[in-house]
Amino acid sequence: MYAIKNLPQVMRLEKNQEFLGYTSYSITKPGDNLGSSIFGIKVRVKNLETKKEEFVDAVVKTPAQDELIRYIFNSEVTFRNEIEFYRNIMPMLTRFQQENNMDSSEYYVKYLGARLNLKNNEDVDTNAVLLMENLALGGYKMKNRKVGFNLGEAKVIVKNMADFHATTLSYKMKNPENFNSKIKPFLDGTIFECRDGIKGILYEKNKNLALEIVGNNDKDLFERVKHIIEEDFLPDGELFSTICHYDFWVNNIMVNKSECKFLDFQICRYLSLINDLIFFLLTSVENDVVVENFDDLIQLYYDVFINILKKFQCDTSQFSFEVFEQELSFCSKREFLHSISMLFIIFADVKLPMDLNAPIEPSKNHLEKFHVILTIYQKKGWL
Ligand SMILES: Nc1ncnc2c1ncn2[C@@H]1O[C@H](COP(=O)(O)OP(=O)(O)O)[C@@H](O)[C@H]1O
Ligand SMILES: [Mg+2]
Repeated sequence: MYAIKNLPQVMRLEKNQEFLGYTSYSITKPGDNLGSSIFGIKVRVKNLETKKEEFVDAVVKTPAQDELIRYIFNSEVTFRNEIEFYRNIMPMLTRFQQENNMDSSEYYVKYLGARLNLKNNEDVDTNAVLLMENLALGGYKMKNRKVGFNLGEAKVIVKNMADFHATTLSYKMKNPENFNSKIKPFLDGTIFECRDGIKGILYEKNKNLALEIVGNNDKDLFERVKHIIEEDFLPDGELFSTICHYDFWVNNIMVNKSECKFLDFQICRYLSLINDLIFFLLTSVENDVVVENFDDLIQLYYDVFINILKKFQCDTSQFSFEVFEQELSFCSKREFLHSISMLFIIFADVKLPMDLNAPIEPSKNHLEKFHVILTIYQKKGWL
């Protein structure tokens, strides 16, 4: 049984529902997530009109109980940012769509309440909670992270991702002051890398593993991989920068036939939206599918992206496909290390408590995915 203090004060119920009590249940398996605690609750309510008892389901997200994990995941910043996304940013973007006579996006999860602590100040503590609808009850599923999405699912996700990015970018272009004051301050959700010591350990581990896998037989390839990892990134340009989710991978996306829902807005950054597209394709799509359809999925993203910008009456002349491809090439530098580092989370079955110093023994699946990424980079001329 998971306990939530003062649940009735935080959970949004309908006006005619009176809180009676709740029970809790597990919804994740070890390895599904690291940065927070997630569980389901079934809330018993009395319907004041019918006088009957009813049940309302919700998913509860709280910062991890483990202090090291909270530190690594920068929870005092990232948990606040996610709450802010659900509480204010998501409704703002939805209103923007409505004002422009567009349908509200279906890829958001319904928000059911949140708090940072029990003290009514701005600190995030272990009483912080975020409540959402339970997607599993609506038929949404999480795919096996070691396999990823099939072509049909990848298309649905790419289209919705393009819609999300184009909407937020249009918002930035049409309402720059609001974007800067109400959205941008919550796009600083760095994890790992804001903690120098930890960043150093993980960087060395991932770099050494990558170079070990590439091996010394092909000296040119070895040097190219070393270079792309060691190269300093230049800051992303303004043109494509908006809300970059920065964690669009299998476990943060649930699918149901031709629909998908995006989860986990903790580490959003003000970065080029292209980072999300590359990271998703490299880490979260079945190997054969991504190798064969990489360019088509990018084209699909681009077409939807431009179409949505047009619907918001934004000037699309600056977003030619040529400029878009240059941006892909630019962002591919950052996303190489980002994606190969993610393979450690996807394939290594990280257990808590996390041992950052344990050597990484890449599994067959891990090696295969690494080679998929390498193949794509070579084909695209990004190395
Ligand atoms: N609203 C939801 N409905 C159903 N399952 C969910 C929901 N939110 C999260 N989950 C499950 O919990 C996992 C972890 O949630 P997430 O928000 O990604 O936390 P973390 O920040 O720890 O990764 C997800 O991968 C998904 O399986
Ligand atoms: Mg997650």
